[in-house]
Amino acid sequence: MPTLATTVDGLKLPNPFVIGSGPPGTNGNVIGKAFDEGWGAVICKTLSLDASKVVNVQPRYARLRARDSNEIIGWENIELISDRSFDVWMEELKAVKDKYPEGVLIASVMEEYNKDAWVEIIERCEAVGIDAFELNFSCPHGLPERKMGAAMGENPEILEEVAGWVNAVATKPVWAKLTPNVTHIEDPARAAFRSGCEGVSAINTIRSVLGVDLETLRPEPSVEGYTTPGGYSCRAVMPIALRMVMELARVIRDEYPDRSLSGLGGIETGEDAAQFLLLGADTVQVCTGVMKFGYAMVKEMCDSLLAFMERHKFETIDDFRGHSLQYFTTHHDLVARQAAARAAKKAEHDAKKMIQADDQWSGDDFVDQSDALARG
Ligand SMILES: Cc1cc2nc3c(=O)[nH]c(=O)nc-3n(C[C@H](O)[C@H](O)[C@H](O)COP(=O)(O)O)c2cc1C
Repeated sequence: MPTLATTVDGLKLPNPFVIGSGPPGTNGNVIGKAFDEGWGAVICKTLSLDASKVVNVQPRYARLRARDSNEIIGWENIELISDRSFDVWMEELKAVKDKYPEGVLIASVMEEYNKDAWVEIIERCEAVGIDAFELNFSCPHGLPERKMGAAMGENPEILEEVAGWVNAVATKPVWAKLTPNVTHIEDPARAAFRSGCEGVSAINTIRSVLGVDLETLRPEPSVEGYTTPGGYSCRAVMPIALRMVMELARVIRDEYPDRSLSGLGGIETGEDAAQFLLLGADTVQVCTGVMKFGYAMVKEMCDSLLAFMERHKFETIDDFRGHSLQYFTTHHDLVARQAAARAAKKAEHDAKKMIQADDQWSGDDFVDQSDALARG
C-alpha cells in the first residue's frame, strides 16, 4: 500500500495537499476545519501588522463559466490580504497550534519595504508556534500600490533584500510565493534561493480582466461601475502554472537541489496534483478549488492520488516526483528526434520489404518456378 506521507524542509505532512493562502484559511475556525478534514498543511490568509490599512470592496470576485456546463473554470478576485487584526490573528493561530500540535501551520505574511516591520512580523508569528512561513511577494492587485506583494516579487533585487531580512531572523523554513506576472519566473526564484529561502511556491494569480458586461458596458467585477485588473485563478490557469512549476523545478534540479517547491494554480483533483508532482513539486496547494468544492474534497484527492500511485507501483511520492521533467527538451531537439525516428521507421520498413521480396524467390515457390522454367 503506497503512502502519501512526505517530509519537506523538515515539515512532516500526512499528505502533500496544502490549503493555499486565501479565503479557505481566513480565520482560526476554518483552519481547524481543514485539519479535521485531513489536509496535509494549511497556509493562512496573508497577514500584515496593520490591518487598518487593508480596505476591501464588494463585489471582489468575478467568474468565467464553461459555455456548455456552466461550471466555473476561471475566477478573478480583487481581494486584498487579510483585513483582520494582527493581534486577533496571533491569538487564533496560537489556539490552532494548541489544538492541533501535529498540524503543519504555515503563516503567509506580507509587509511594506521596511526591515523592522518584516522582522517584527516574523518574530511575532514564531512566538505563537507557527511551523513555517510563506512570504507573499505576489499579490497582483491593490498591494502593489503600497509597493507590497507583486511590486516586490517582480523585482528580484528587492525580493532578495527583503527575503534576506526574513531569513536572517527566521528559525523556521521560509518559502517565497512567486508571481506569474513576469517573463522569467526563474529569476525571482533564484533571488529567493540566494537570500536563503528553503523553498518557493508558484503560482499566485495571473493579472487579468475577466470580461465586460454587454448590457451595462462595465468591466467585471464592477464596484460602483468601475474596476481594477485582478488576479485570475481556477482550472483555466493550470497549464500556465504547470509550465512555471516545470521551469522552477529545473532550476532546483540543476542549481539548488536542496530547495523545495510548492505547486499551485487550478488544482482540483488528485490527478491534477499528480501532474504537478511529476513535474517536480514537493507539495501542492489548493485555494479556489476549496471555495468551489469545500474542505472535504481532500479525501477524494488523497484517494485518487493513491490510486494513481498503485497503478504505477509507486510506493512514495519521492518515487515519481519530478519523473516527467526529463521529457522536456528544445524544439530543435524535437525536430532531430522526429527525423531520427522517421529514418529508423523507414529503414525498418525497407528491411521488411527486402525480406518479403527474398521470400518470393525462395522456398517452394522458387523451386516450382525453376521446375516450370526447366520444363520450358
Ligand atoms: C479570493 C482569493 C483570495 C486570495 N488571497 C490570497 C492571499 O491572501 N495571499 C496569497 O498569497 N494568495 C492569495 N490568493 C492566491 C491563491 O493562494 C493561489 O495562489 C491562486 O489562486 C492560484 O491557485 P488556485 O487556482 O488553487 O486558487 C487568493 C486567491 C483567491 C481566489
